Amino acid sequence: MNSLEISSEQFRQLASKVIQLADQYLRTLDSRPVLPAARGEETERLFGVDLPEQGLGEAAVGELEEVLRRSRAQNGRFFGYVLGSGEPVGAIADLLTSVLNQNVTAWRSAPAAVTIERTVVGWLGEAIGCSGFEGSLTGGGSSANLMGLAMAREAKTPANERGLRGAPAGVVYASDEIHMSIPKAVALLGLGRENLRLVPVDDSFRMIPAELERAIRDDKTAGKIPIAIVASAGTVNTGAIDPLVEIAEISRRHKTWFHVDGAYGALAAIARRDKFGGLEMADSLSLDPHKWLYQPLDCGCLLFRDAAAAEAAFSHTGDYAKSLSTDPLEGFAFFEESLELSRRFRALKLWLSLRYHGVAEFRRAIEFDLAHAQRLAADIRKHRELEMLAPVELSAVCFRYKSVRGQSEQELNRVNAELLRRVVERGRVYLSNASLRGKFGLRACIVNHRTTDADVDAIVPEVLSAAKEK
Ligand SMILES: Cc1ncc(COP(=O)(O)O)c(C=O)c1O
Repeated sequence: MNSLEISSEQFRQLASKVIQLADQYLRTLDSRPVLPAARGEETERLFGVDLPEQGLGEAAVGELEEVLRRSRAQNGRFFGYVLGSGEPVGAIADLLTSVLNQNVTAWRSAPAAVTIERTVVGWLGEAIGCSGFEGSLTGGGSSANLMGLAMAREAKTPANERGLRGAPAGVVYASDEIHMSIPKAVALLGLGRENLRLVPVDDSFRMIPAELERAIRDDKTAGKIPIAIVASAGTVNTGAIDPLVEIAEISRRHKTWFHVDGAYGALAAIARRDKFGGLEMADSLSLDPHKWLYQPLDCGCLLFRDAAAAEAAFSHTGDYAKSLSTDPLEGFAFFEESLELSRRFRALKLWLSLRYHGVAEFRRAIEFDLAHAQRLAADIRKHRELEMLAPVELSAVCFRYKSVRGQSEQELNRVNAELLRRVVERGRVYLSNASLRGKFGLRACIVNHRTTDADVDAIVPEVLSAAKEK
């Protein structure tokens, strides 16, 4: 036997050690700091080690304890960024995913995995009111957004054959609260960031449709070609949901592609469909089960209405990979509709997690997150020295500390940036920040199935106490 192969006995021993570690981590999660006590030099010393010429055997598994110790705990008091909490049933499925090592390129290579992924993608569409959409799982919302815009560009100003040279500039529209993955996608697709129009938002940080309409008309008058409108179903800063129906209608009138960035928020439609009318009008839509379905990283998703548009953008099959079957199921290939060729069996965790808990349990967890955000906002409003900076549409709460009257905006920004640093350093709750109309705010985002009322109630006292620290 090649020495890279381990015996069944060794496999069980190593696996049970890793499972013990994982269990120990989960059991002690609550007492672990949301910021690990580690400095850069220390992590470098511990993990920046030489390439081992000879293996360490089981001792290498023992070293994993150090990795756990230096990792940020994903307990109920982690409120930073938009980061799902890592549901353990999904994590268990991930072990099997790696053992099976299926390459989810095409049915021919991975019959069960391809069928499961197509099923799970269908479930996601159904769960948010987009039945009939197809799509694929991705590494995250950024790749899903890139793929959505690649489809838009190919549908409206085809460039796969002849490139962009000589073609009139295609313009993409999004609100000025859009996530950075959209400008990145526009740049990567060769459209040029100067051809991304950032449309102003209203007081609730939602795109203003009349401004969108005006921007499109101005571009048309200037001889440019509007190709896509990107609406946010949950902006990264405040969770604002753009007026999807109105934007979809503008998109139809001007024959542009309508992409919805739902990476943060769209899965909340499982609990609050009423907030997301118009999602079903999208041509393409990105979602992130690794955010608001609590799945372990990575698990993003792009849904689209028309598989032919995905093929137009992504099908470049070389002869060696061409599927020989004409059967619609057995001849199916993800690489004809996606950026990736070799693909991990991401669907297994979602499949197991959804079949284990049922969608009702996820709906309840999302409802809790939404209610927790309102609870936090109510707590903030009780304190005169705290100020809300945006309405709470979903589960992101933006606020700032403002104790002294007459402080300049510049001074307030400095005070709040320093306050955030202190709150995070204390290690009890983890918040991140958002800059809203030039105001530096503290931001708590709750996409966390572990968060309890007590965790939410810890935020305001922690901020006030850190503010008093000298
Ligand atoms: C609105 C929005 N879009 C896109 C993304 C990017 O998603 P990912 O981090 O999965 O690439 C995020 C991430 O927070 C987001 O909030």
